[in-house]
Parts: sequence; structure tokens; C-alpha cells
Amino acid sequence: MTFEIQKVKVYTSDGKEVVKEVSLCLVKPGIYTIMGPNGAGKSSLVNAIMGHQSYRLEGRVLLEGEDITKLPTHEKARKGITLATQMPLEIEGVRVAELLSRIIKRFQGVDKTDEALRIARELLGLVGLSDSIMSRYFMVGMSGGERKRLELARVLAQRPRVALLDEPDSGVDVESMPLVAKAIEKLREDGAIVVLITHQPRLFKHLEPDHVYVMYNGRIVAEGGLDLVQLIEDKGYTWIAHRNGGR
Ligand SMILES: Nc1ncnc2c1ncn2[C@@H]1O[C@H](COP(=O)(O)OP(=O)(O)OP(=O)(O)O)[C@@H](O)[C@H]1O
Ligand SMILES: [Mg+2]
Repeated sequence: MTFEIQKVKVYTSDGKEVVKEVSLCLVKPGIYTIMGPNGAGKSSLVNAIMGHQSYRLEGRVLLEGEDITKLPTHEKARKGITLATQMPLEIEGVRVAELLSRIIKRFQGVDKTDEALRIARELLGLVGLSDSIMSRYFMVGMSGGERKRLELARVLAQRPRVALLDEPDSGVDVESMPLVAKAIEKLREDGAIVVLITHQPRLFKHLEPDHVYVMYNGRIVAEGGLDLVQLIEDKGYTWIAHRNGGR
């Protein structure tokens, strides 16, 4: 499994360059964390990779060596890429049970609805959501933390090869954090490349990232291991950018 981002630049619809140039070469399953201050371009990067209409992307995105840059979003999903967005959208009229079982049938090759529903309940259990959420409309009226956990269950249902997770831990309470970490760990165990955007070093009490990247002002300005997370916790981000000559 390889996932490569080559010299990617991202522009908003009004022409602003929000990602100046990012290259990442991820060649084995693992948890690849991106940290960085508000407005660094983290969400823009993953949204543009997935094909969000508000962005224009330059550069190339390769999955297993295949150039998938220009594929429509649903084709990227079919090839195994999924994005858990920072703010999951409500889908009025579609219930959790229906959506998850549909995804499980499609992506896991399950035929029977009963079996798909059983797997859906299992995934919800994994992220600490009760069965009662199955009958609710997807995301509608759910709390911030519930949304994040349901979005993770949706990602797991897809059995992705590449999971882009945009702050799956934000707004998640202290007791649910280990569950979120476990769900992310499951993705890695299942052989996925996980690109994990987070602001919370607290998450790494429960989860060891394979690598950490720091994004600042539209570029990757540093990379390393958990020691880098500790440095950020102690000193913030600005010094890293300055250390690198303020690129
Ligand atoms: N559709 C858009 N139109 C205009 N500006 C945008 C758009 N999307 C992003 N931006 C701007 O691009 C910059 C990067 O935003 P982005 O959401 O990628 O940051 P981020 O690193 O994810 O920050 P955070 O940690 O706060 O989530 C910000 O200044 C933001 O206002
Ligand atoms: Mg963001």
C-alpha cells in the first residue's frame, strides 16, 4: 500500500493559495499525523485531495502508483480513500442504520441486511455509541463528540485503504478518547494508511503515531516522532517555522 502526495498546491475558489506545496510519500500502513496551527491549510489539503468543489488542486496524488488526482470523489472512495471531515454534515432523512448498512454491504461485500446491521452495531460499540443511535437521522441533532465518533464508525465501515481523518478527536470527552484511539488503531491494524490531523497531544497517550508532520503556513516545516509532539506542547509552532527560516 502506497499513498503519495506530490508537490500539491491548493487554491480556494477565489484564487487564494492555502497550501503552498506539500509532498508526502507514505509507503506502508501506519498513522501519519499532521499537526499545525489554525489556518495552516491542513483541512484544505485533505478536502482538496478528496475532490471538494471549493478547492483547486495542483500537483499529483498517487494510490499504489496510480495517478488518482483527477478522479471524481466517488471514484476515489471506490478505490479505498475516505475522509472524515472536521465538521461532518447532517443527512436529513437518512437513518444511521440505513447509511451504515448500505456502506457495509457495498464496501465489505456483505449481502444480508441483518448481517450488515450487526456489523454496524459492532462498529458503533467500538466508538462508544449505543444502539439507540441507529434509528436517528445521520448526524442530525447530534453532539460534537457524537458526530466525531459516528464519523469514525462510518470510516471503519468503509474498510479504507487510505483514511484521511480531520480532527477525529476534537470535542471528544476524556473517557471516549481511548475509544477513538482504538478505532484509529483498528484502521492501522487492518492495513490502512491513516493521515491523522489533530491538535491534541493527549490523543497520543493512547495511540503511537508512526510519524509526525508539522504543517505551517501551507507547508510541511518539520517531521519526526513523539518527541516532536512534546516540543510542540512545550513551545508551540512558531519557533519551528522560524528555525526553518520562516519558509
Ligand atoms: N473555501 C475557502 N474560501 C476561502 N478561504 C478558505 C477556504 N478554505 C480555507 N480557507 C482559508 O485557508 C486557510 C487554511 O484553512 P484550513 O481550514 O485548511 O486550516 P486548518 O489548518 O485546517 O486550520 P484548523 O486547525 O483551524 O482546522 C484559512 O486561512 C482559511 O480561512
Ligand atoms: Mg482544519
